[in-house]
Amino acid sequence: MSRLLLSFSLILISYTAGAEPFTEGDFSIGKSMVEKHCIACHAERFGGDGSAIYTRENRLVKSSRGLLAQIRNCNTMLDLKWFEDEELHVANYLNKTYYKFEK
Ligand code: HEC
Repeated sequence: MSRLLLSFSLILISYTAGAEPFTEGDFSIGKSMVEKHCIACHAERFGGDGSAIYTRENRLVKSSRGLLAQIRNCNTMLDLKWFEDEELHVANYLNKTYYKFEK
């Protein structure tokens, strides 16, 4: 229950923080986490450097909330056991680099 509350308030904070979501996350930590855990599989399935998955026309993620949810799905699927603050590093990196949601 407290984990649920925590993640809910983190989402709320990121919504009220201003022009950019996920400001609590750290870009460079997120970058290295993605490079280590995520790129190989995306590149294998979608080709190139693995970034096409985030920029394809019919991409799945449509909002910052959706981005966090997708990161959580992959986290769970891969059994990485990341905490909320670690998910926010990755969200910060992916949003700044590819998605560019403003709230
Ligand atoms: C074992 C393979 C695999 C790994 C590892 C993996 N993914 Fe994915 N990911 C996928 C596939 C396949 C899709 C596309 C699903 C679809 O199109 O239905 C996807 C989609 C996504 C999307 C949505 C892209 C869009 O359409 O907007 C995000 C964001 C994402 N993954 C993040 C991550 C992150 C973060 C990690 C590392 C923790 C990760 N993935 C690791 C296979 C993987």
